[in-house]
Amino acid sequence: MTAADHTHATHPIALVTGGNKGIGLGLVKQLAQAGWTVYLGSRDAARGQAARDSLPAELDVRVLALEVTEAATLQAAADSVRQQSGRLDVLINNAGICPDIEPPSKATLDSLRSTYETNVFGPVLVVQAMLPLLRAGTLKRIVNVSSELGSATLHGDPNFKYGFVNGLSYCSSKSALNAFTVLLSKELYAEGFAVNAVNPGYTATDLNGHSGTLSVEQAAATVAGVAMSELGTGSFFTEGGRLPW
Ligand SMILES: NC(=O)c1ccc[n+]([C@@H]2O[C@H](COP(=O)([O-])OP(=O)(O)OC[C@H]3O[C@@H](n4cnc5c(N)ncnc54)[C@H](OP(=O)(O)O)[C@@H]3O)[C@@H](O)[C@H]2O)c1
Repeated sequence: MTAADHTHATHPIALVTGGNKGIGLGLVKQLAQAGWTVYLGSRDAARGQAARDSLPAELDVRVLALEVTEAATLQAAADSVRQQSGRLDVLINNAGICPDIEPPSKATLDSLRSTYETNVFGPVLVVQAMLPLLRAGTLKRIVNVSSELGSATLHGDPNFKYGFVNGLSYCSSKSALNAFTVLLSKELYAEGFAVNAVNPGYTATDLNGHSGTLSVEQAAATVAGVAMSELGTGSFFTEGGRLPW
């Protein structure tokens, strides 16, 4: 163990993918303000550094090159965390895209494929790359940032507030992420992992042209609440409660 490792031996170490803007950046800030060491995942070095520079210098936030669809950069990212910290306590799969909200009869396979690459295959690859570090960690938490738009149960309710948002690519990608959450939580249960999904809520970010009604701070607080609490495993959280799958 190096001297640098020793300084954060007792407090949690987290990785936030897509940490350079939006909810991810808000989350990085809140976790770091709580005294955590936070790896700010960014697929673009300059955007990652600019995000880091927007935060108070005294926070322990470290930019990590991380493109969730590229296994090679994920391995390099894992190697870098291992070298610096030797472990990871909490992984937050936050990076996500919503290129369109075309309904099932019109969505293109190109849209489906690219959305799944980032929103589904990305978290699978990130988890697989980071699992050895998480196994070496103490908290063993994985938080998948999903959406209420991924709830098949809510879409089946004619009174669902956001039922009119019927985009096949985005909604079904979050349903698949939810399924990954449940299956992974079962697999890792015996090892003491907590694997959960969380809906940050409809938030004003670039993802929706800033049409969301919540602030980044509010959404990040919901995700941080799941990342920082002992809540068991295999659930889908939202502000103030749980959602049906
Ligand atoms: N905003 C909402 O209303 C809302 C509601 C429910 C759920 N969510 C979920 O919350 C999460 C964050 O969304 P947001 O609203 O904060 O969106 P955002 O402002 O557009 O930020 C998305 C982040 O993901 C990163 N990203 C995208 N593709 C990536 C890839 N292939 N590899 C690495 N990073 C990638 C982006 O990096 P670049 O800057 O390089 O593009 C950016 O940092 C997403 O999973 C989203 O689905 C959002």
